[in-house]
Amino acid sequence: MKKPWAGRFTEKTSKVVESFTESISFDRRLWRYDIEGSIAHAMMLGRQGIIPLKDSKPIIKGLEQIANEIEEGSFEFREELEDIHMNIEAALIKKTGAAGKKLHTARSRNDQVALDLRLYLRHEIKEINLLITGLQRVILEAAEKNIAVIMPGYTHLQRAQPVLLSHHLLAYVEMFQRDKSRFEDALKRINTLPLGSCALAGTTLPIDRGYVAKLLGFEGITENSIDAVSDRDFAIEFLADSSIFMMHLSRLAEELVIWSTSEFAFIELPDAFTTGSSIMPQKKNPDAAELIRGKTGRVYGDMLSLLTVMKGLPLSYNRDMQEDKIPVFDAVDTVKSCLAVLLQMLPEIKFMRERMQDAAGEAYSTATDIAEYLVKKGVPFREAHGITGKIVLYCVRNGKQLGELSLNEFKKKDIEGRDSPFRGKETVKETQKNPEIKFGRIYA
Ligand code: ARG
Repeated sequence: MKKPWAGRFTEKTSKVVESFTESISFDRRLWRYDIEGSIAHAMMLGRQGIIPLKDSKPIIKGLEQIANEIEEGSFEFREELEDIHMNIEAALIKKTGAAGKKLHTARSRNDQVALDLRLYLRHEIKEINLLITGLQRVILEAAEKNIAVIMPGYTHLQRAQPVLLSHHLLAYVEMFQRDKSRFEDALKRINTLPLGSCALAGTTLPIDRGYVAKLLGFEGITENSIDAVSDRDFAIEFLADSSIFMMHLSRLAEELVIWSTSEFAFIELPDAFTTGSSIMPQKKNPDAAELIRGKTGRVYGDMLSLLTVMKGLPLSYNRDMQEDKIPVFDAVDTVKSCLAVLLQMLPEIKFMRERMQDAAGEAYSTATDIAEYLVKKGVPFREAHGITGKIVLYCVRNGKQLGELSLNEFKKKDIEGRDSPFRGKETVKETQKNPEIKFGRIYA
């Protein structure tokens, strides 16, 4: 098949170059947006009298037919036609003859591909944000169901202070709220019409970009044609926002992995979302959660990949930019598949309330509350901290938890200059001056 651009060529493209440069194998995914953009463009060309209305009408009808054929799977995509833009245009010309040949007036694939990608991302970001809202809802429901469950809160992965499980879960709702607002913000820059920039220099023909922008639901039009065909910031921004979002999902996934270990045993993951081992019969592995954590690396890679493609490019369009689509598509797919898994898995997670509650009472995690109790009694916080530290030390030495101390034992502390339960005041003082000593003397 003759290529639409073959006029000045005398030789055929080599096969190896043809399959090296094609993008139809992956950019066919943009077909819907390519057709939507072409219909708006044809309407504008007809309205402006750049092409006769008797031509724009069959063009639009032909494009709609092509959309149906692609939808039902009967459309034949051809590698020698390089990409989705030329595949659709060639099919249109086959259907409509001379009329179809007028569609590419005042347009280039350079502004066309920028348009398609913007329309695609606009659609996907809206979908992703709806899914994130769904995820927030699922987390809110889990928090509500477990509203009064107490668990240890952590810093440094050491039990720090008791918190409500619902408080912990709602932290993720906040992260996801910021993620949504980042995506929304990216949308502002995505939702701008690049069409009319043509190859890079615009056109001498009397186009109406505002009309096309209105038809396609864009907020505005790009201001500089050279920038508009060179710009992939909007795609990189999407990838950066996706990376931050995946980082949040990965932290959630990591907690699900840790919490489901027998060491923690805070949750039980549903059978349907875990897998077994081929050798160890007892195993129930949190593979779905692990893969969410693992796929985060892919999305970071997608962002870095496009940043690197763009970093040395002179203005304006360069074919390197065709490499934008694979990472963008991969990130969209990865983000959506992780969301789909979490949306189903989270409602099925069983929280082991008693185990969490017990763990919250261990490891002296109520120490800060004891110090604050003393503060309420008028003890300066630094002193209260020191006194409580001694109480903890007493527990360590006597193999007790804070909750197991009797009122008498608390009262024995030298809070009011009474007798201390410690072996000798000297030892305690030394320990305070030089914390290292405690390992040698007191723990020994
Ligand atoms: N397939 C190309 C891409 O994805 C479309 C733009 C081609 N433009 C060009 N001048 N060869 O970037």
